[in-house]
Amino acid sequence: MKATKELLVFILAESSLELVPRELWGHPSVAKHASSKGKKAGELLLDRSYHHSAMLRLKDNGKRGRPDIVHFSLLEATSSPLYMGGWIDVYVHTIVDEAVHLGRSVRLPKSYFRFEGLIEKLFEERKVLSPDGSTLLEIRSQSLKELISEIRPSITIGLSRMGKRNDFGGVAKELFMHEKPAFVVGGFPRGHFCMNTSLNFDELYSCHELPLEAHVVIARIVYEFEKLLMI
Ligand SMILES: C[S@@+](CC[C@H](N)C(=O)[O-])C[C@H]1O[C@@H](n2cnc3c(N)ncnc32)[C@H](O)[C@@H]1O
Repeated sequence: MKATKELLVFILAESSLELVPRELWGHPSVAKHASSKGKKAGELLLDRSYHHSAMLRLKDNGKRGRPDIVHFSLLEATSSPLYMGGWIDVYVHTIVDEAVHLGRSVRLPKSYFRFEGLIEKLFEERKVLSPDGSTLLEIRSQSLKELISEIRPSITIGLSRMGKRNDFGGVAKELFMHEKPAFVVGGFPRGHFCMNTSLNFDELYSCHELPLEAHVVIARIVYEFEKLLMI
């Protein structure tokens, strides 16, 4: 077993997580949703299930408005023995270049509606603290490149169906060979990483011929890494 902790870094990149952008505030579907929740349009998470018609005019709209993908993915990562044992640091980079930094022992709500409320509060206050004053969640304006420069991983491996073929065990082994390795999974519903994202990768691997859900890919990499750590 390796001697040091927090060795693996996981980044969910280009994630479908943002507040409703200003250009959609006046759209009837957004105004109706805001009034039903007693909030301003700009305080709501962009969500395709409510804002589909408004989103048709948004740039890159196929990659946006799916905060449920981030919820699923974070539950998968933070419920793992790897995270509970302090072996993995978790970050969410968003499609609009913000980055959520997760603290060490975050217990995210299993209920989507409570997760939505928590993230809307995070966007408003920029930080969520635990009762003892430690930071549970913090959001910063940060591109993926800036986030990676701050983390300084020794290798950054992207996962995509468009990558070189490998299996989950092989990717975990390659990560395991490095001191502070990072793996990156897309937090969006369809499409592929944009060029600016891919430029940050040392390797890009595909682990299956099928397009898989982000949470499945995360679960498998984490599990293979746990087996190597024997935890
Ligand atoms: C729902 S997918 C995005 C859909 C995209 N059409 C695709 O095929 O990758 C979310 C993320 O899961 C990961 N992923 C999906 N399928 C994969 C595969 N076969 N091998 C490796 N990673 C995969 C990628 O990081 C991808 O960005």
